[in-house]
Amino acid sequence: MIQLTVNGVQHALDIDPSTPLLYALRNDLQLHGAKFGCGLGQCGACTVIVGDRAVFSCLLPVSAIGNRLVRTIEGLGTVDHPSPLQKSFIELQAAQCGYCIAGMVMRAQALLDRTPHPTEVQLREQMEPNLCRCGTHIRILAAIRQVAGLPEPAQATGASQ
Ligand code: FES
Repeated sequence: MIQLTVNGVQHALDIDPSTPLLYALRNDLQLHGAKFGCGLGQCGACTVIVGDRAVFSCLLPVSAIGNRLVRTIEGLGTVDHPSPLQKSFIELQAAQCGYCIAGMVMRAQALLDRTPHPTEVQLREQMEPNLCRCGTHIRILAAIRQVAGLPEPAQATGASQ
């Protein structure tokens, strides 16, 4: 039996210990926010928070979680009461197809939990592993900056038009 605490709720799951966390979340706990993108640790669509770190849940076997707490997008906010990050992503229209967004939000949340006011370098380093196939990274970064109180970087100048 695997014990998992997800979004503050304890679960005992009768599953193979090698089961990736993503499968346990989606198939056993019906938490479908984290997405299966590549299954190879290359896209970040499956990102959730384990302990205080953003992890690729497609790669993490449930047996490796131990007593660390798991947090998913379902634990952040609701449609009626979105979290500050979720609100900012909506306000700045950071989603296009939306497939990567739960992972993006959770990776950003892990950073802001540890470092509420990160530097631009810390922000970019944190978000680098997660990919958006629509290419909305600029808006995603802007949405996180808005919550982190980070200024927008100066526009590049001197480019010929
Ligand atoms: Fe986990 Fe792509 S689905 S990194």
